[in-house]
Amino acid sequence: MLICSGSASTSLATKIQRRGETLKWLEIEKKRFPDGETYIRIKGEVEGEQVAVVQSMYRNPDHYLVEYLFIAKTLKDLGAKEIIGIIPYFPYARQDARFNPGEAVTFDLVKELIEDSTNKLLVVDIHQHRRRGVEKEFRIPAKNLSAAELFIKYAEENMNNPFVVGPDDESVNWVSVIARKLSAENTVFRKKRVSPEEVELESGKLDLRQREVLIVDDIISTGETMAKAVETVKGMGASRVVAACTHPILVKEALKKIYRAGADIVIGTDTVPSEISFFSVSGIIARELR
Ligand code: R5P
Repeated sequence: MLICSGSASTSLATKIQRRGETLKWLEIEKKRFPDGETYIRIKGEVEGEQVAVVQSMYRNPDHYLVEYLFIAKTLKDLGAKEIIGIIPYFPYARQDARFNPGEAVTFDLVKELIEDSTNKLLVVDIHQHRRRGVEKEFRIPAKNLSAAELFIKYAEENMNNPFVVGPDDESVNWVSVIARKLSAENTVFRKKRVSPEEVELESGKLDLRQREVLIVDDIISTGETMAKAVETVKGMGASRVVAACTHPILVKEALKKIYRAGADIVIGTDTVPSEISFFSVSGIIARELR
């Protein structure tokens, strides 16, 4: 199998290639023209080959999506047998419904573009609580991998009898997987989003005095959700708070906001490169490709 990457994920793709013994690197030339258009050139023989294309679509999702489509479609055009899309952070997953009249359901629009260009799909911790899961949602074989094992290992090695918290209903499955593995007490808060950058959390009564708390979420974007969750557990007496997410999008002051709220450490993975991407999902993806 060949593996290549769009400009969003060269480092992650390289790590996956090193971990997957049979993966051969395929070079792709990617450029922007002065007018902003995208240039793609496949620099290798691909006829009859299975090709994995790694492109996580964070922070600049529209450009990364277009680049991915150009790469995947060109590979097909050059005779590749199968395109395996590896999109660790799948964009627009939160806009999976028409919340207000007239809104574009952009998740469905992106889904169609991926189905049209790709034979198989791997994503990581996709935000999909309103839908039936990627296996049923996509018309192509698709699988949602989870980074949970990385946080379980972290907690086993670095935390003492942690209490696991999910900041909102959407984290319930994730929290229960992690808490079960750690045999940990756990709870899930209720969240109301007042505006894109403001949330309110409802926690119920908990005694977290002298407890180490692990808060887990799929995405940290503005950091508002995580900061409020940290503040809440600190207010309940938590002695140490670890804030963990799979996708550290970290818009603007997000990280500062969470530390200011009292987090002891904020950790995330390299689905989105960032200053807190301490863990790599490359092993999980390479294992799946094998
Ligand atoms: C949505 O509910 C997700 O699970 C995250 O909680 C959310 O995307 C985080 O966004 P923000 O950091 O902007 O509060």
